Amino acid sequence: MSRKFFVGGNWKCNGTTENVKKIVTVLNEADVPSDEVVEMVISPPFVFLSLVKGLLRSDFQIAAQNCWARKGGAFTGEISAEMLINLGVPWVIVGHSERRTLLKESNEFVADKVGYAISEGLKVIVCIGETLEQRESGATMDVLFAQIKAVADKVSKWSNVVLAYEPVWAIGTGKVATPAQAQQVHKELRDWFVKNVDVNVARTIRIIYGGSVTDTNCNELARLRDVDGFLVGGASLKPDFVKIINSAS
Ligand code: G3P
Repeated sequence: MSRKFFVGGNWKCNGTTENVKKIVTVLNEADVPSDEVVEMVISPPFVFLSLVKGLLRSDFQIAAQNCWARKGGAFTGEISAEMLINLGVPWVIVGHSERRTLLKESNEFVADKVGYAISEGLKVIVCIGETLEQRESGATMDVLFAQIKAVADKVSKWSNVVLAYEPVWAIGTGKVATPAQAQQVHKELRDWFVKNVDVNVARTIRIIYGGSVTDTNCNELARLRDVDGFLVGGASLKPDFVKIINSAS
């Protein structure tokens, strides 16, 4: 079963109008595989979504970095799934560990966001990951299974979900997971889907890796059987992001 490779660029809370235009120019001029081979999704901060959407070539898609957990209304500061659909933004990242940690987003709250976003027609990159303390205590899979079970309790349309395994201890640290670590976790996550959801969902869902992916480590990770792509942070702001996209070829 071939799963279309997926490379997401999560710009996080970075950018000015000037450097957003520079990054988009690099992407617009990049030699990358067809979007039949690799799904390329760029996720700028909310304030640059319209600018990037208007400038970015059509074989790239865009994503928001978050959305509210239900229909819009008296929720100051929030951005609703309906707004993203109305803006023509097809993807949203939900449950990033920085939001789980800094903003105390619980497994259930993340799951509510995923369920509502999908019900409104968005495609969702669902982020899960364990801390270094949880890994060192041997709790990695227990933590990841709890995170994904909360989502599974709210989702039936898995075709609109990409699962991003992002070990918290690898995010922004330069400590990328080894190929063995990444393959083991991705395989165990896929096995979880066989046992708890459906064998076809297990075969078709893209499970991507995030956490210090660079142009120097992406090719070895990209060849792993159960790694279906990447969610890239810091490196997505630099021209070498194009080399990471080309690890799909
Ligand atoms: O969402 C991707 C991000 O968490 C990974 O960040 O900078 O380690 O590639 P980085």
